[in-house]
Amino acid sequence: MGRLLHIIASPREEESRTLQISEVFLDTFRKKHSDWVFDELNLSKEEIPSLTMKRVDGKYALLLGKELYGELREAWEEIIQHIERFLLADIYLISTPMWNFSIPYTLKQYIDLIVQPKYLFRYTEHGVEGLVKNKKMVVTCTRGGQYESREMQAFDFQEPYLKTIFNFVGITDITFLKAEPMDIGEEIQKQKLEIAKSEALHLAQKL
Ligand SMILES: Cc1cc2nc3c(=O)[nH]c(=O)nc-3n(C[C@H](O)[C@H](O)[C@H](O)COP(=O)(O)O)c2cc1C
Repeated sequence: MGRLLHIIASPREEESRTLQISEVFLDTFRKKHSDWVFDELNLSKEEIPSLTMKRVDGKYALLLGKELYGELREAWEEIIQHIERFLLADIYLISTPMWNFSIPYTLKQYIDLIVQPKYLFRYTEHGVEGLVKNKKMVVTCTRGGQYESREMQAFDFQEPYLKTIFNFVGITDITFLKAEPMDIGEEIQKQKLEIAKSEALHLAQKL
């Protein structure tokens, strides 16, 4: 038995193209792993705590190798709950559109919240060590435009950022399922979405 955490960063519910790809992935994956637990974190529905001064103070205390006590520990209660929920999962599915060449702010806020020293990474004498080991991640993402050409790749801060931050915490097995362009013509949108859905189905069968 395992656990999959689905992190949703599109607020568009049934209108979301990204979620259409994820649903194909999840339907297939569920059939194969009927005993798994499926947790869903919809970043537009669940309130993600903001990083107040106290909470940021906690981060700096941890960076110095200190423990969190009293007020700082209290301020960190919700952060620790989110971190524990994240760490419980064996597989992550992130559904994210491209927003302004990067990720929606809700997903960035969540990343800023959970990527914490002592919990997700630590500094050793050999450098940084990611503490999230032996996990897999699938990222479904759709974009309005097209970023395949070398010229346009320079505008893509979505895939490189997600790869970098999750590699940093130790998640190196990451597969991207992308559909683009979504907003420059209906025909190509349908075609590319179908291709991504079929990739999602095949990937879910393999995992
Ligand atoms: C706030 C906002 C910003 C966007 N910025 C970009 C962008 O920088 N580049 C791009 O190609 N598409 C951009 N788009 C288009 C979306 O990436 C595209 O429509 C995507 O398919 C939406 O995914 P969803 O249907 O799952 O919400 C943006 C859309 C919104 C709402």
